[in-house]
Amino acid sequence: MTEDFIPVKKSQLSLFTDFPLFCFSKENKPLLFKKEGEQLKNFRIRDEPVPNLFIRRSDRENAAIALYKTMNAHLAQTIFSQELVSTRQTLCTIIQEALEGPLSISGKMLQETIELLFKGYTEKTTIMGSLAKLSSYSDQVVEHTVNILSLTMQFCIFHHHSGADTKKLGLSAILHDIGCTQLPPEMTDTRTHLSDDEFKDYQTHTLKGYQTIKNSACFDPEIAMVALEHHEKLDGSGYPEGKTIISEEAQLIGLIVSYEPLTYRGTSRHMEPQKPFNALQLLKNEVIAGKYSKHMFVKFCSCLTR
Ligand SMILES: [Fe+2]
Ligand SMILES: [Fe+2]
Repeated sequence: MTEDFIPVKKSQLSLFTDFPLFCFSKENKPLLFKKEGEQLKNFRIRDEPVPNLFIRRSDRENAAIALYKTMNAHLAQTIFSQELVSTRQTLCTIIQEALEGPLSISGKMLQETIELLFKGYTEKTTIMGSLAKLSSYSDQVVEHTVNILSLTMQFCIFHHHSGADTKKLGLSAILHDIGCTQLPPEMTDTRTHLSDDEFKDYQTHTLKGYQTIKNSACFDPEIAMVALEHHEKLDGSGYPEGKTIISEEAQLIGLIVSYEPLTYRGTSRHMEPQKPFNALQLLKNEVIAGKYSKHMFVKFCSCLTR
């Protein structure tokens, strides 16, 4: 019976006005908690112990579309009113939905998100620049993805990439680690030490992500390639295949992916977070060793000085 229902995150409860919400009795029977069209008051969520709530699986698609619409509208508003923290929180919600929900739905709705971000980056440069600089010590895939997205958009806008190119790279950034959602959560926690075997399993997120994006048939093939190649290095020392010829898009996301944990979380599980300048110094050593494109690295450094 429970497989007919999907849990709703507490933080998103107020967004499900149009859908009935259910809880489960001790006997595991579904009970109607809120009728369709009824608003779940904020105080009720805040002040009363709310049980774990669920929507019907059959409402999944419509609920996801409604959620995206609300969140995209919220994103437009927070960008417009220059609310940095809310913009970031809204992006986190959207990205979480994109990573966890079916790509058949997010494929369409994410285009809208990217349009809004693109508009934000071109018209509200201050807030979007700050978004790229906002540091976070969180190890969650969602936070990491928002950081990668912010830095990628910053890079593209700073270097005057075309609108189409910028949006494609933005989508690539959002989806690059989507394969991680198919791994046990502790494996993507940077505080967990992974054994060699576990690290091998972790590396499969590239191939899993590639297949997921490709199977969805919602995105350009280049976006799937970024998921596959973002941990490859030009000297062949990367994974999953040890390629030396890597798409431009994957090279850029790969460079940003190796910069971000240096500043925000410490290098993969061992180091304290670095100041941006020190992080770039560390990354420079990798560039000199032939792992990343020198030309791209120089361009990345210059976009961070904005
Ligand atoms: Fe990543
Ligand atoms: Fe990754």
